[in-house]
Amino acid sequence: MKILLIGSGGREHAMAWKIAQSPLVNQLYCLPGNAGMTAVAECVPLSIEHGAAIQQWTAARGIDLVVVGPEGPLVAGLSDQLREMGVAVFGPSQAAAAIEGSKVFMKALCRRHNIPTAAYEVFTQPEPALAYIRAQGVPIVIKASGLAAGKGAIVCQTLAEAETAIRQIMVDRLFGSAGDAVVVEACLRGEELSFLALVDGEEILPLAGCQDHKAVGDGDVGANTGGMGAYSPAPLLTAELQERVMAEVMRPVVRAMAAEGYPYRGVLYAGLMIDAGQIQVLEFNARFGDPETQPVLMRMRSDLVPLLWACANGSLRGMTIDWDPRPALCVCMVAGGYPGPYAKGLPIAGLAAAADQPDVHIFHAGTRWHGEEIVTAGGRVLGVTALGQTVADAQHKAYAAVQAIHWDGVYYRRDIGYRAVRREQA
Ligand code: AMP
Ligand code: GLY
Repeated sequence: MKILLIGSGGREHAMAWKIAQSPLVNQLYCLPGNAGMTAVAECVPLSIEHGAAIQQWTAARGIDLVVVGPEGPLVAGLSDQLREMGVAVFGPSQAAAAIEGSKVFMKALCRRHNIPTAAYEVFTQPEPALAYIRAQGVPIVIKASGLAAGKGAIVCQTLAEAETAIRQIMVDRLFGSAGDAVVVEACLRGEELSFLALVDGEEILPLAGCQDHKAVGDGDVGANTGGMGAYSPAPLLTAELQERVMAEVMRPVVRAMAAEGYPYRGVLYAGLMIDAGQIQVLEFNARFGDPETQPVLMRMRSDLVPLLWACANGSLRGMTIDWDPRPALCVCMVAGGYPGPYAKGLPIAGLAAAADQPDVHIFHAGTRWHGEEIVTAGGRVLGVTALGQTVADAQHKAYAAVQAIHWDGVYYRRDIGYRAVRREQA
């Protein structure tokens, strides 16, 4: 089988690493890929934004399956373009990807089908939004409806913060047209849980539970990022909670999307808030999580390729996944300044020594080759991931590898997995 994987992040490196291990694959291409992915695939120097060029390239190479990693091309309709050509695609249609691409669509879908989510209103003008916020009081959450690279949700503790958020999104257009509409919703409390499942339009096969750390600072403080680290399994996700998430969220949403004429095919990621046994949906994503995919795929013993193929072709029924019982934990090493402005092009030292450590894998995100050297090329640069006998052991191994790697201004959180370790040691 010839597979084309679209994307260049840590998530895609983990997917490429896993796909490349499949005996079913004779050729794996990554578009555009990163420095790490060149070890397991042939990288294709095209932009993920140029659907027509990707179509042409796919046809010319006789690709059997295209796997779309990031949300951008899904929301732009790349899956539909490729399916029209008769190519199998892992990833939802444009209409189904709106579950991530439009928070207005997602909230209305939940409201129509009684899927639990925070109370909300939608605004297209700043004045009525501000009037509503003043009436509701703080804390309150303000979200640009469209895609904003994980930065479009602002949790406001004061009225002044809320006024700034509305101004930035609706007047200064910080996120461009993603801020044409704004969702203002109640602030929920609790512990966050990422719940991911493979879906073939109808059947739902849950993946191992995982949790990520979104805040930039130790102790989960500071600005939200795309994710500073993650671990799997999630101690929070008991068998009982898993069954309730399936019954209250996953089955209703998959059924609703099929009934409304846009069946969901691909991986559906529910960002949940769990508070005293109550489940609420914070968001849906139309793709694997980043960095959640790194620890999850390190634990997956089954071949990923037949699963991706089954999602693309509606044949997921009866399939199962074998998981390594050992926990895995990923620490993201990021450029100094991230999620704000940061430098690029800095040489990375110590990669080979870190990769030598047992049960450790270094997934690249923002990296590229510069001559013979690997240099930084993004905010999140590496996802250092380790398997351990316990979460504490995986954490220890991951940080030992992290400490072997260096570049100017490198930053990482020192406490990834602290809640899980605390639970483990309680
Ligand atoms: P979203 O892009 O909607 O997932 O939001 C990103 C992050 O903002 C979530 O992972 C939460 O940490 C936080 N968040 C979003 N919505 C809420 C909410 N209603 N209450 C509290 N925190 C939220
Ligand atoms: N780690 C959060 C996300 O992938 O959206």
